[in-house]
Amino acid sequence: MVSTKAPEDACTAEPFVPERGGLAALRRAAADCRGCPLHRDATQTVFGAGSAPARVMLVGEQPGDQEDRQGEPFVGPAGKLLDRALAEAGLDPADAYVTNAVKHFKFTRAEPRKRRIHKAPSLRETTACGPWLAAELAVVEPELIVLLGATAGKALLGSSFRVTETRGTVLEREIHGRQRRLVPTVHPSAVLRAEDREGAYRGLVADLGVAARVLGENGPAHASAPGTA
Ligand code: URA
Ligand code: SF4
Repeated sequence: MVSTKAPEDACTAEPFVPERGGLAALRRAAADCRGCPLHRDATQTVFGAGSAPARVMLVGEQPGDQEDRQGEPFVGPAGKLLDRALAEAGLDPADAYVTNAVKHFKFTRAEPRKRRIHKAPSLRETTACGPWLAAELAVVEPELIVLLGATAGKALLGSSFRVTETRGTVLEREIHGRQRRLVPTVHPSAVLRAEDREGAYRGLVADLGVAARVLGENGPAHASAPGTA
């Protein structure tokens, strides 16, 4: 029998990820990903932004409405708040590669032609998109990963990950065969939704400050730091 299955039914980005090439090759290939059904309704793939290598990799959940339109991660309200928090924590945006666990915007509409409302990606979709995150990690080779919220945490550390239990601490975990350092924190959108917004914002800045200290202890830049592998 001839298979009529669409590639997205397999629910994995794996066949779309090129075996070699740097960020540019990955970004080009990701633009055509049909590894899960989320590409169907979204405008475009929103791949990570920044250069490789980068000292720190920030991982969010998925693009929002603005990101979906502009094709860049964290350019909407959550991104503006994140930029402010990074600056306050002393993390240099030039050191950061910014990406999302899921590369397509998932949304619902209350009514046709009405505003698009963000919908959290399922674990299945997050897992499907995982090969892109793994490929980014392999080329960006960050000294530190900052997990912005539960989806990012589950994508890299498994479904038992809890933000509340780990935020603001430095974790050492093996991910895809490599020992990685991670600092989990809340998602900037959670700060925007919080009742005590100022308190939530302070918490985010404090957690990012932990990340900034780790990088500070590591020295100026890993490419030029002598004696580090
Ligand atoms: N929220 C995210 O997790 N990522 C974005 O890029 C924007 C909002
Ligand atoms: Fe591919 Fe990820 Fe988009 Fe799904 S969400 S189609 S796996 S890029």
